[in-house]
Amino acid sequence: MSDTLSLVIGATSGIGRAIALRFAAEGHRVLVAGRDTARGDAVAAECLKVGAPDAAFFSVDVGDPASVEALGQAVQDLHGTPDILVNCAGILQSGKRVLDQDLDEDERMWRVNYRGTLVGAQVFGRQMEKAGRGVILNLGSLASFAPLSLPAYTVGKHGVLALTQMLACELGPKGIRVNAVAPGYTLSDGLKAKIAAGERNPDAIIDTSALKKFVQPEDVAEAALFLCSDRAAAITGVTLPVDAGWLVQAPYAHYQRGNPVKA
Ligand SMILES: NC(=O)c1ccc[n+]([C@@H]2O[C@H](COP(=O)([O-])OP(=O)(O)OC[C@H]3O[C@@H](n4cnc5c(N)ncnc54)[C@H](OP(=O)(O)O)[C@@H]3O)[C@@H](O)[C@H]2O)c1
Repeated sequence: MSDTLSLVIGATSGIGRAIALRFAAEGHRVLVAGRDTARGDAVAAECLKVGAPDAAFFSVDVGDPASVEALGQAVQDLHGTPDILVNCAGILQSGKRVLDQDLDEDERMWRVNYRGTLVGAQVFGRQMEKAGRGVILNLGSLASFAPLSLPAYTVGKHGVLALTQMLACELGPKGIRVNAVAPGYTLSDGLKAKIAAGERNPDAIIDTSALKKFVQPEDVAEAALFLCSDRAAAITGVTLPVDAGWLVQAPYAHYQRGNPVKA
């Protein structure tokens, strides 16, 4: 895919950074977006090193719709309509009960994780609609499918799954595909910080996946590259788990507790 222009929002660390670098290695022109300029500039420089013919950092706060609109204008003015948009900006949550969910945190997580994805898709979806082509990839989660004890996060990621399906229906006739990846526990900078803070149990995480391992950001990037490429030309509206088998392992293991397999 030469001369492909890819915009990755939330590419200054973790999974988004890995996606930006994978696209760069494939020869895409890569636009890196996020809030942290120092980390964003560094990722753009890495993209050039691994093969991107062009790369640049754009500052954006997806929690502020005006900031995403400004990003849309700047990208359009300087580079034109992206061929690929990845909505990867997001914040992780710590476990708690629904009844204990603080409303300020709920509002903040909804604004960034769900509304940030919505606004990104609106701003660049309109550009793609005019161009008559494009691919959008959103970031779902295990929480898109299962009732995890992360009340604000889970509701937002359920919303991202539904949004991905609706966008696929609305934009399909315009030549635009919309999919999502749903990473399992992925050793991103964000998850490493949660582990370091004692908010995730790495041994239990490994044990509860079928493949007995963490997902790496590069694993998610590989799936992202496929879904955004012409090799996935007939795939739209899906949310693809990249989870080392966590989603199948969880009910399987629970079922066996009531109906043990005889050796
Ligand atoms: N790690 C996992 O296990 C896991 C599993 C499932 C889904 N996910 C999803 O994957 C995505 C990336 O997570 P990660 O684990 O890679 O986390 P991460 O390492 O903390 O990276 C988060 C990224 O989001 C950006 N971001 C956060 N708030 C933003 C805002 N208001 N405006 C613009 N950018 C913002 C950050 O950029 P700045 O710091 O520069 O703002 C950073 O680039 C999220 O949507 C997350 O929900 C992660």
